[in-house]
Amino acid sequence: MSPTKTAPYIRIDAVSRQYGQVRALHDLSIDIDKHEFIAILGPSGSGKSTLLRLIAGLDRPSSGKIFIKGEDVTNLPPHKRGIGMVFQEFLLFPHRTVRENLAFPLRMTRETPEKIVERLEWAEGILSLGGLMDRYPNQLSGGQQQRVALGRGLVANPTLLLLDEPLANLDRELRQEMEVEIRRYQKQLGIPFIYVTHNQEEALSMSDRVAVIHKGRLEALGERQAIYDHPTTPFVARFVGRSTRFDGVFDRSSGNITIKAHDYTFAHQPVDGMGADGRVDVFVKNERFELSPWTEKSTGIPCSVADVVLRGPFVEYILETANKTRIIAVQPKRKDHLSIGDRVSLSWDPAQCHVFAAEG
Ligand SMILES: Nc1ncnc2c1ncn2[C@@H]1O[C@H](COP(=O)(O)OP(=O)(O)OP(=O)(O)O)[C@@H](O)[C@H]1O
Ligand SMILES: [Mg+2]
Repeated sequence: MSPTKTAPYIRIDAVSRQYGQVRALHDLSIDIDKHEFIAILGPSGSGKSTLLRLIAGLDRPSSGKIFIKGEDVTNLPPHKRGIGMVFQEFLLFPHRTVRENLAFPLRMTRETPEKIVERLEWAEGILSLGGLMDRYPNQLSGGQQQRVALGRGLVANPTLLLLDEPLANLDRELRQEMEVEIRRYQKQLGIPFIYVTHNQEEALSMSDRVAVIHKGRLEALGERQAIYDHPTTPFVARFVGRSTRFDGVFDRSSGNITIKAHDYTFAHQPVDGMGADGRVDVFVKNERFELSPWTEKSTGIPCSVADVVLRGPFVEYILETANKTRIIAVQPKRKDHLSIGDRVSLSWDPAQCHVFAAEG
């Protein structure tokens, strides 16, 4: 690290964690800024909780280091790291009131009674818990319980907050409401939140940057829009957003990619790392398909509409190609929407698809 450059607020530096034969995390590095909301997104077993446990100090890395505000905290116990936590597995104590639940982290760090009163008032205010302080968790709604759990993570004035799937047990509507609230708290408090989820909608709606983890490795790290619009690996293309994959072949002489199964060809720039046979994987986000009624002049993939699913402002068309492959195309709802049995031409803007050298 150069002495002139200020240290990042949080630095995760080449961290690995091995459990026997299992490589839960492998050589993972991320720098996090003081004002950032970072989502850690990955499928089940990818190493997300392991990473949070290492940051929290609940576990130690096999190699690598963790720095907070320039200080090496790799060997510090959890209570000396100044980190707040909201983990799904230990939310609230059922036999203690909201007030007692909130006071717990402050008692752990042996704060004075005056300080505890002051911090409880702060939490009550910022989380709108007025009138709920003497209730027990089972006398609260799911959203209220969640706010108390957040309060418990924040009450000791942490330098950062770690959240591990805190909304997983809430229904969709409440989850969306809490997503907005949690993001608002983060911006208001000005400390980083590191938010683990396997739910890409949650990651994309809340965070500034998204770190995609796959098999213990950092697969991609970037601003949420960039992660969605410009996936840099096939895994990210598959995992973020809903997309359809096609086997294609790139022909160097013509500069065309042909989707052989559907006899569809489009022009494309050369693809990095492609083998001599030119095989490529083409990913198209389901909402980026273009559909038009089939005519003699159509050049897209001929399909028929097998089903129409209404999803709020969008329509999901289940299409069937000539060789009986099913493709889902999502389109904005319009008055003249397509009906079952309609013949359509399916295509896409070559600039809107993602092409990678074929895997394996
Ligand atoms: N204490 C442990 N001992 C052995 N293996 C472990 C231990 N903790 C985690 N693992 C393994 O490490 C890998 C990563 O686990 P981790 O809990 O970090 O995944 P995750 O991304 O949080 O998954 P989920 O979305 O299901 O919570 C998994 O293969 C898991 O089985
Ligand atoms: Mg987990």
